[in-house]
Amino acid sequence: MNSVKEYYDKIGWKKQKGKYVDTLTFTSDKGAKYKKAVNERLREMIGESDSLLDIACGAVPFNSKAKKQICIDFSITAIKEAKQNRPYGLFVLGDITNIPLKDNSVTDTISLHTIYHIDKDKQSRAIEEIRRVSQRKCYVIYNAGKHATLVNILTLPLQLWNWSEKRINTNSKRKVYFYAHDYKWLEKYGRLETYTLLNENGIKLYSVLLGLIAKIEKHFPRHAYHPLLIIDKKG
Ligand SMILES: C[S@@+](CC[C@H](N)C(=O)[O-])C[C@H]1O[C@@H](n2cnc3c(N)ncnc32)[C@H](O)[C@@H]1O
Repeated sequence: MNSVKEYYDKIGWKKQKGKYVDTLTFTSDKGAKYKKAVNERLREMIGESDSLLDIACGAVPFNSKAKKQICIDFSITAIKEAKQNRPYGLFVLGDITNIPLKDNSVTDTISLHTIYHIDKDKQSRAIEEIRRVSQRKCYVIYNAGKHATLVNILTLPLQLWNWSEKRINTNSKRKVYFYAHDYKWLEKYGRLETYTLLNENGIKLYSVLLGLIAKIEKHFPRHAYHPLLIIDKKG
């Protein structure tokens, strides 16, 4: 697979046994209650935005409380599926590194689980673009990858298991471009909070502790596997 767009057009947003391949590949049903609570926390944080841009919305746009939601993605398959999954809203084909909107044309913007799939040298352009089109706030869920040292140590056994499985079965995880800048790089653009401290491996391994983790994780944004970057243009 030679590009992220091609992956999402031809594989990621196709369904297998009623589920999207991307969802089957990168997520699991483990920790469903915790994941729902984390999502709700973000939903409350964003609140009733007058107009919310969900950029790189994927097949299942964010279930926000916004009065108007504009969903943009560069994958035509994502846009077609998004329209079916969330029939109200505005759906546009477009690239996050060149958003087809005027400056300050939406109230707030979200970009969830995407910027780390953009070429490492173009990620800052993507962040500048979402800042440009927003009047108020931008929320970016990032993936700290190798920089989330604590989580990587805590999940080492499962990482080793997955690695050995990948060596035996090279199709076990499909490769999509990924590059994680460090926390310091992210902080150039705004402040960091925690979306989730753990990754999928951590959620599997520490499922009995998720109640406790949900209570304390907000204190460790610089250890979060999924940090939440918040850009406040008025702040
Ligand atoms: C991991 S999915 C995340 C989808 C959704 N935001 C979510 O959280 O479920 C990444 C999405 O970003 C889109 N994408 C990747 N690079 C993009 C770009 N440069 N411009 C617009 N969309 C992009 C892909 O087509 C895909 O739908």
